[in-house]
Amino acid sequence: MDVAVIGCGYVGLVTATCLASIGHRVRGVEKDQKKLARLLEGYSPIFEPGLVGLLQEQLANGSLSFGASINEAMRDAEVVYLAVGTPSKPDGTVDMTYLEAAGKEVCDALATIQSDYLVTIVVKSTVPVGTNRKLYYSLRQNSKLEFQVVSNPEFLKEGSAVNDFLEPDRIIVGGESPEAFRIMRRLYDPLIKTEDTFLTMNWESAELTKYAANTMLASRISFMNEMSILCDAYGADVEDLRKGIGSDKRIGPAFLRAGVGFGGSCFPKDVAAMEHISRAIGHENLFVEAIQTINKSQKRRFVEKIGTKLGRPLAGSTITVWGLAFKADTDDIRESAAIDVIRYLLEGGANVRAHDYKAMDNMREVFTDQVEWMQDPVAAAAGADAIAILTDWPQYNTMPFRKISATMNQPVIFDGRNCLIRDVMRENGIRYYPIGRPVIESNVRVRSSSR
Ligand code: UDX
Repeated sequence: MDVAVIGCGYVGLVTATCLASIGHRVRGVEKDQKKLARLLEGYSPIFEPGLVGLLQEQLANGSLSFGASINEAMRDAEVVYLAVGTPSKPDGTVDMTYLEAAGKEVCDALATIQSDYLVTIVVKSTVPVGTNRKLYYSLRQNSKLEFQVVSNPEFLKEGSAVNDFLEPDRIIVGGESPEAFRIMRRLYDPLIKTEDTFLTMNWESAELTKYAANTMLASRISFMNEMSILCDAYGADVEDLRKGIGSDKRIGPAFLRAGVGFGGSCFPKDVAAMEHISRAIGHENLFVEAIQTINKSQKRRFVEKIGTKLGRPLAGSTITVWGLAFKADTDDIRESAAIDVIRYLLEGGANVRAHDYKAMDNMREVFTDQVEWMQDPVAAAAGADAIAILTDWPQYNTMPFRKISATMNQPVIFDGRNCLIRDVMRENGIRYYPIGRPVIESNVRVRSSSR
């Protein structure tokens, strides 16, 4: 099928590239000239494992092309994806400017082209409940043409987005037109293993499903972070707790890792949006408030723990931060726990050095010269009073800890992602403070008293 994808940001680019890889002819539209130039050369403006290879392959075989013109992209398109940004406004509501403008441009293009197809407009962007219906009727009002609108929320995780797209747990399509459902079913056919993974529902259910899924996942993390406090205080191990409850089929093992808090472009934004849509109907959603409060205080508590356990005043100390991205395998720092933690450390008077494998340039824009930027994690640790791990890059696990322990001012590690191996810490004489797990102090396993 001929497909147009309007907006080649993170979601749009993954969608366009993956749809091309399953046999569709896809034209991506990107208005940012710089981004477009890179795409035309076969480079991805975002870091996402597996994406560049697939992109270059699809460009080379002609299944994928890019341009700046919506009109041109829509010439033969049966399906048009709207994948433009829907950023949060400071009050938690969603900024719909780009989506509305893109929808209007698509309708204008339809009028110009006079396509023979019944075009299906697919809203990929995460939007507040009610948006697709509103968009459909407002576009209908201003256009005599026939078209259909469906909501098709994305469930892509950064770092595994290509795989998530090509092997989805489910595909959700919200709308009112059986014809649109049939077209979407045909479009996604190569990805559908069993019929019950292709779910159709009304617009509102599809929109709410996206928010509900992310709120549910975020709540599991916040729940485990609460549990980590009890584990610290009572001498339990939050990892054992995770295995213990995760092996119950009704609970399942995913998204139960305690840590310094969740970040990224989705969870914080979608939980905030859930709070907003609750408030819009006059409902005070205590559940989402709790998720947010816990996530915020987890970062503060982490820095308080550093202050208490460092063994010297935080002010004037040198803390090396390993990991700035909101999670491993990405250069994305949006809502990353590292932002709050570094800010608190600086407020506490610490000298902060920072290292990351991908996200250093992005974080440099936030903290400029307030932080010392280090290319080498081992050199970053030399002379430091503690290392604070904020992203679970697997490379940190294979560091030369003997050398690190010997060159630090004092060998102390605060592991905000519970990603290091305790025995390795013990063997190398490192005082080790994970989250919700027994600490290692003076090479003796003791009960944490961080609270
Ligand atoms: C998330 C959703 O998983 C995805 O379905 C949606 O489409 C977009 O939002 P993403 O933001 O890429 O994906 O990352 P994810 O892997 O879900 O992690 C989000 C945050 O939660 C990260 O900061 C991560 O470190 C944290 N996390 C995740 C935990 O603290 N514990 C866990 O057990 C899992």
